[in-house]
Amino acid sequence: MRILVLGGDGYLGWPTSMHFACHGHEVLVVDNYLRRTIAQQTRSEALIANPNLHARAELFEALTHCHIEVRIGDCADFRFLEEVVSEFVPDAIIHYAEQPSAPYSMIGFPEAKLTLNNNLNATFNVVWAVLTHAPDCHIVKLGTMGEYGTPNIDIEEGWIEIEHNGRADKFLYPRQAGSLYHTTKVLDTDLLWFYVRTHGLRVTDLMQGPVYGISTEEADLDERLMPNFHYDDIFGTVVNRFLVQAAAGIPLTVYGRGGQIRGYLNLKDTLQCLSIAVENPPRHGEMRILNQFTEQFSVNQLAERVQRVGNGMGLRVQVRAIANPRKEKEEHYYNPVHSGLLQLGLQPHYMTDQVVAGMLSEVIRYRDQIDAGKILPRVSWNQSDGAASATARHAPLAHAQNAAETQQLDLPASVSALQ
Ligand SMILES: NC(=O)c1ccc[n+]([C@@H]2O[C@H](COP(=O)([O-])OP(=O)(O)OC[C@H]3O[C@@H](n4cnc5c(N)ncnc54)[C@H](O)[C@@H]3O)[C@@H](O)[C@H]2O)c1
Repeated sequence: MRILVLGGDGYLGWPTSMHFACHGHEVLVVDNYLRRTIAQQTRSEALIANPNLHARAELFEALTHCHIEVRIGDCADFRFLEEVVSEFVPDAIIHYAEQPSAPYSMIGFPEAKLTLNNNLNATFNVVWAVLTHAPDCHIVKLGTMGEYGTPNIDIEEGWIEIEHNGRADKFLYPRQAGSLYHTTKVLDTDLLWFYVRTHGLRVTDLMQGPVYGISTEEADLDERLMPNFHYDDIFGTVVNRFLVQAAAGIPLTVYGRGGQIRGYLNLKDTLQCLSIAVENPPRHGEMRILNQFTEQFSVNQLAERVQRVGNGMGLRVQVRAIANPRKEKEEHYYNPVHSGLLQLGLQPHYMTDQVVAGMLSEVIRYRDQIDAGKILPRVSWNQSDGAASATARHAPLAHAQNAAETQQLDLPASVSALQ
């Protein structure tokens, strides 16, 4: 198949591109390095510096004889995207090209505006490029489990049947996102559903939980092929952040009471889910929604697991609760359905102690590159923690290490020296 990966430089996009290229597909990746730019601006650089896309694709080809075509450009620019789609005429588009950080979207007006404009324009342009130049193309869109929030009833896969005053109908599941970023994902879903029902597009919307891990079959070939691995408060997902904290001897920072439950998955399973979605396209006029995670944990359970495994490896891992910078329920009911991908053949890689130990060993190799000033929350939108402004409160991003002082974390000398 001809597969166009939008956002192919990203944490998920690069391993996805290598995976499809190694499984006999023709792969074109597009990225405008938005993530690298924002990471630099907010002092949130990845743990391991990644070569640019052209260099990575060249190295990948030299090692595997599999080819990845690269185009640098902005999906929010319709002229650019329609040119790419009309030339390549993809069978499937995997759309990752969005600003994916909840804290970033909550810093203030410019960051909120960038997130809203970038994410919605990219999705809108994908829709129109497909309608105009590749109407048979299957759009595989990355949504997030965060679109659902944490309602007090079971979460279905996208759709819910409701009986009201003796009549029944089916609706998109009520969504209650907890950040502007997550809200753009809800709006993306609504846009796609509009064009599916009015113009007959074929769309899979994958409601993905937070992903963890760095290892994939192809990324393991050479460290320069590893995905970007962020551990900071703005781009790092919770498991990756805890792994780095454990490796650096920094207490694992649990936000609030730590009873927040989410569905998680291994990076290897993201690749499997994407393959399954691409190989099983929906029919025209169908919007298929699948909940993409393999097991659920509370933040406390994750911290306990990383602590237990880390201590077993000779690290001295501490866990410390800090004020929750996010506005979210810290204890709640959570029971999302996630049977669709399993029925289509997903074979999960669960988060066993062995898997955690493997990830920790990998992170420990880069311990000297950890910057402790990037870990504590610099952005807060939780009014109950004392912030009362219309926009989020944020510590000066360039002086994040001050947060470590105010939160009175005892950082080991090796880490403090890096600040
Ligand atoms: N990583 C997770 O745990 C997770 C969980 C749920 C959903 N998702 C979703 O999956 C997708 C990929 O996530 P990720 O973690 O790989 O993020 P990422 O930031 O590493 O990757 C996104 C990539 O898209 C690029 N991009 C953004 N806007 C663009 C534009 N207008 N034109 C071209 N390129 C653009 C960025 O430069 C970046 O390389 C995102 O849509 C995200 O919302 C991620």
